[in-house]
Amino acid sequence: MTESSFSAVPVSPNVWWVGARDWNVRNFHGYETNRGSSYNAFLVIDEKVTVIDAVKAPFMPEMLARISSVIDLAEVDYIISNHAEPDHSGGLPELIAAASPEKVFASAAGAKTLAAYYGLAGITPVKTGDSVSLGKGTVSFVDTKMLHWPDSMVSFYDRDNILFSQDAFGMHLAASPMWADECDPAILDCEARKYIANILNLQADRLISLLDAIPGLGLDIRIIAPDHGPLWRRDLDRIIGIYRSAAGQKPCKRALVAYSTMWHATEKLAAALAEGLIGSGIEVKICDLEVNDRSAVMTEVARSGLIAFGAPTMNNQMFPRMADVLCYVKGLRPKNKIGFAFGSYGWSGEGGKQIAAELEAMGAEQPEPVFQVKYMPSRDDLLKMKDIGRKLGAALAARCE
Ligand code: FEO
Repeated sequence: MTESSFSAVPVSPNVWWVGARDWNVRNFHGYETNRGSSYNAFLVIDEKVTVIDAVKAPFMPEMLARISSVIDLAEVDYIISNHAEPDHSGGLPELIAAASPEKVFASAAGAKTLAAYYGLAGITPVKTGDSVSLGKGTVSFVDTKMLHWPDSMVSFYDRDNILFSQDAFGMHLAASPMWADECDPAILDCEARKYIANILNLQADRLISLLDAIPGLGLDIRIIAPDHGPLWRRDLDRIIGIYRSAAGQKPCKRALVAYSTMWHATEKLAAALAEGLIGSGIEVKICDLEVNDRSAVMTEVARSGLIAFGAPTMNNQMFPRMADVLCYVKGLRPKNKIGFAFGSYGWSGEGGKQIAAELEAMGAEQPEPVFQVKYMPSRDDLLKMKDIGRKLGAALAARCE
């Protein structure tokens, strides 16, 4: 038994949580994780002792200690890797070395990915419809390709009715309560929506297809155990509903005004635009990119029916921070948006047009042309901008009827 203060936490009669909380992670491949994260992993005690998923490599001593608080590592028979991204597989080679399992299961794409990352060979591929008997209970598998990597799958353990859903139904949140029903619901809603916007939005259609398919899978799911954030044992429809609503991206009377500014000209335009929008009954969020990172902006994009981006032109280009954010947002493919581009310039005015081109590439409808001013907006410019805000607000309200 490993000398450690870490213990496994019971999830159900035959399943233990053996993961790790990453309280202080603030950057998850470019996503600002203000409340940390967790890497959930599970130990199933059946005739075939099975570990489901691993943790980020630096947390592997913690995971091994948690397993060792229940059984000797040598007793592990099977490992199931639902997802090969390194936040769940980084510690897998160490786990395999420590436990010498009889078999490791992953999707076919997962087996290839684990081989490429770690040189792991001999992984048993599984697919939708396959199942593995653990003795008293059975684990069945469902491919969830691209949610959030090509290899992704989920596993269902019928003895305790648990869906191990890997990234799906997760959120980046480190919290000492293991169960969602012990957490602040407002924080769960906020972090789940941020997670969906920044991790799964690109595959929103696949996510909706999965949500539609779940009832037909014939699985009596009573616990949803994702690989990030709290586990769900009550009101499963709540997390499913949050996922469905976020993935649907229906137009709503909410607008994001995001801007960069050099000498406050674009900032003044942003404020005037917001005044017009608010005046037409639209809820507005203003984000200065100097203090809002790209994932915070994407979270607001996902929640908004109208997205307005403004920046100065610098060296014939849109301001670099705006280019970063638009590149990120476009990659996550927001849908059903009204867009608007604005900005300021001194020598030339390419920035606003470049922003408009990015909005067009996102498929955003732009009912108002780009609005730009030279150097500093006049009072007349600000009134024009406010009027554009009113018109855009009316257009958005009409969409939401
Ligand atoms: Fe939590 Fe796609 O990894």
